[in-house]
Amino acid sequence: MRSFASDNNSGIHPEIMKAIESANKDHAAGYGDDKWTTKATALIKNAFGPTADPYFVFNGTGANTVALRACTQTYHAIIGAESAHIFMDECGAPVFQTGCQIIEIPTQDGKLTPELIYSKLNGFGEVHHSQPKVVYISECTEFGTVYTPKEINAIADLIHPYGMYLHVDGARLSNAAVSLNLSFKELITDCGVDILSFGGTKNGMMMGEAVISFRPELSEGLKFIRKQSCQLYSKMRYTTCQFIPFFESNLWKKNARHANNMARLLVEGINDIGKFIFTQKTEANVILVKMDRQLIEELQKKYNFYIWNENNNEIRLVTSFDTTEEDIYKFLKDLKELSK
Ligand SMILES: Cc1ncc(COP(=O)(O)O)c(C=O)c1O
Repeated sequence: MRSFASDNNSGIHPEIMKAIESANKDHAAGYGDDKWTTKATALIKNAFGPTADPYFVFNGTGANTVALRACTQTYHAIIGAESAHIFMDECGAPVFQTGCQIIEIPTQDGKLTPELIYSKLNGFGEVHHSQPKVVYISECTEFGTVYTPKEINAIADLIHPYGMYLHVDGARLSNAAVSLNLSFKELITDCGVDILSFGGTKNGMMMGEAVISFRPELSEGLKFIRKQSCQLYSKMRYTTCQFIPFFESNLWKKNARHANNMARLLVEGINDIGKFIFTQKTEANVILVKMDRQLIEELQKKYNFYIWNENNNEIRLVTSFDTTEEDIYKFLKDLKELSK
């Protein structure tokens, strides 16, 4: 069954598979002391700028947890949108591992603004109050919306004078960068981001993410925190070799562009049917749209996807690097038939 549930339902890109196969020769030192990790590190510095300091991890939840642990003490608070992945979909791992209080902010479109954040910047130095330390945003957001560089920069500029850090969850950063036609450096490094969870798995990799620190003081504890958080892979070459074609062959861009294009095609087709309300702008590869409950149930017999909000019958459709035009047209044909 074809799936629009998540871009992690897709397979592994053949070039990534080839990279894994070619790394699978002879013996190599463990834990990252190998030539693939050295190369992947250099490629990340090349893409993000020389201040980028990557720590490769297994998965997105691990990346977020490790990044947030690097920024915080247990008496700190983490500010995020109510819809933030770290609050909604990580079984409390970041809260459990950091011990921090969470400050959730309701939003219309999954995006925080300086005004929304400012309303939560209080209690500094007050012994009874968790101390705000990190703002967490996702690029693109869980709603498929995208922050512009100006919007990211404005958040960084607001919080830095408070000694706070900006953590970007970039599980789908490639899709956002392609959507804005920007480099990673322009979108992240130049916008004052302090620490990034950089995603690979949702964009064609088998298993690979990186926590990228842009601050020496955050880098200081990262290698220990990664190990303590069970995110240090002994056979590291199999993770890091995947980042080589990701950057050298511009696979990040090709894959994300394709996924975004397929999302656009799907939105256009759903629009043409003319019966459905989109609840968010589709700016990358995530679509939120409302449908009748009965129709959803019929469609789910043929396709895998999530009901995003049970209360208003909002579903989420996600396209990926291996979604085909044929997948889209078939889905649209079924949708048209079933909604007659
Ligand atoms: C925005 C975002 N961050 C983090 C994650 C977590 O990734 P993983 O499932 O690899 O832990 C996801 C996965 O759905 C995600 O959508």
